[in-house]
Amino acid sequence: MLKHGLIGFFDSGYGGLTVLKEVQALLPQYDYLYLGDNKRAPYGEKTQQEVYEYTWESIQYLFSQGCELVILACNTASAKALRRIQQNDLLAFPDKRVLGVIRPSAEIVGTYSQTNQLVVLGTRGTILSNTYLDEFNNHSPQTIVHQYACPSWVPIIESGKHASKEGLNLIKEDLDAIIKLYPQADVILLGCTHYPIIQDFIQTYLPSKIKVVSQGEIVAASLKDYLNRHDWLQKKLTQHASSKYLTTGNPADFEKQAKDILRLNIKVEQIKL
Ligand code: DGL
Repeated sequence: MLKHGLIGFFDSGYGGLTVLKEVQALLPQYDYLYLGDNKRAPYGEKTQQEVYEYTWESIQYLFSQGCELVILACNTASAKALRRIQQNDLLAFPDKRVLGVIRPSAEIVGTYSQTNQLVVLGTRGTILSNTYLDEFNNHSPQTIVHQYACPSWVPIIESGKHASKEGLNLIKEDLDAIIKLYPQADVILLGCTHYPIIQDFIQTYLPSKIKVVSQGEIVAASLKDYLNRHDWLQKKLTQHASSKYLTTGNPADFEKQAKDILRLNIKVEQIKL
């Protein structure tokens, strides 16, 4: 029998788990299928065409496995591939939906700032795309948005070096630069789904007047609202409270990272794309 009724989650690697975890907490009834393209991660330094091709290939795989809706739990993919997929590729899949993480963030995070100034941190791909500037401009025009790329952070996190002094020192260098460059900013948005893994460290290191914001809860609330507004889609979703995890990389590494990083005990299957 063909599978159907799942909500898919996609990221270049482990980062999207930080979003899925919050979605599972808010909407535990649904059935989730997570795919991490760890074999080809990181995406942050890849060309637009590469990010688009890998993302669309992964989405089609998730569709073939019964996903009705796919959340791109990856800012780089949301920034560099989502629009093209929504405007062109989904025409061939009129009953499927693909949503990103940038727009829901831009809809709300401006309201967290007292000074109307915030800094978005992301991969070089996300920052250079200027997608955050466009989305904040649309949804929160009063907010002054500074952008800062942290190209070393995803490699540090994916390799587990964020637990070492050397890795933390590299992260501190960026944080020192950010405080100096944008003294008026009182909100830092972690615009990469890997960064919440080091959120406690970042929040403790920065002055307490700065609020560090991750996207998991924001995306979860936005998805709940979206499903309430799209009854036809919600009705297609099955509700057995299940989750399944796939990777293009090494499943044992994925399981270990999920356990170490997110305290998740999960079974992971390898797939080929
Ligand atoms: N989690 C992805 C993001 O949110 C990481 C991108 C990468 O693989 O460099 O941007």
